[in-house]
Amino acid sequence: MNINALRQKTQPLTMLTCYDYWSAQLLNKTPVDMLLVGDSLAMVMHGEASTLPADVELMALHTQAVTRGAPDKFIVADLPFLSYRKGLNAAVEAVQCLMQAGAHAVKLEGVNGNEALITHLTESGVPVMGHIGLTPQAVNALGGYKVQGKNAEAAQTLIDEAKRLQQAGCFSLVIECVPSSLGQAITEAVSIPTIGIGAGPHTRGQVLVLHDMLGFNTQFTPRFVRHYANGAAMLNEAVEHFVRDVQAGNFPSPEESYA
Ligand code: KIV
Repeated sequence: MNINALRQKTQPLTMLTCYDYWSAQLLNKTPVDMLLVGDSLAMVMHGEASTLPADVELMALHTQAVTRGAPDKFIVADLPFLSYRKGLNAAVEAVQCLMQAGAHAVKLEGVNGNEALITHLTESGVPVMGHIGLTPQAVNALGGYKVQGKNAEAAQTLIDEAKRLQQAGCFSLVIECVPSSLGQAITEAVSIPTIGIGAGPHTRGQVLVLHDMLGFNTQFTPRFVRHYANGAAMLNEAVEHFVRDVQAGNFPSPEESYA
């Protein structure tokens, strides 16, 4: 899937997070449109309390692994916390690092102060995905992981932000954690595809964290997550079976051993 195929697709777009070679190989064989090397990897893969500890080096390492495993997928890499807020040169270096690691596009959070960079990147041949609503890199300023755009003024600000991202050159944008009606209003206000997470059913596409939708995250399930598998139970059952077999002397069998 390349950016032109994405632009032409009339069906809803699908995106899942992917952080490693192993899951990238599996996802490469599925019909999902895009893989996101999200900075949520700091929490999901490294046990951090927020996305803030992710840096460019870490994002590039995971991006390389994903691009090796999923050569057929359109891969978006997150620009990590503050990496695009230290001036144009530093931001371009961060982007260069992720694109040279194999990403096909970068994603960045928020609008204020980012428009010139977005335009510079798109004019330099780098597709940029925006991200508005709940922007986890700003969790300290937002006062927690809360639904955004709940009153008329905040909703209008988000609609305006989406238009500004489109104007700056974004090819798509993620809308995170807003009321469904606002997800719809933003989607109708722009012509670029909106990808929702906790933004209701009216966006042009949906994104989920892979480990959440597979049921591997047993600690917390946000309202917007649907479990498509019970990964934690499946893993537990398989490991218990292995341990039982070893303890009972049933593994390995003669067929699983060298003569
Ligand atoms: O990092 C991430 O996983 C994301 C998604 C929540 C869209 O940005």
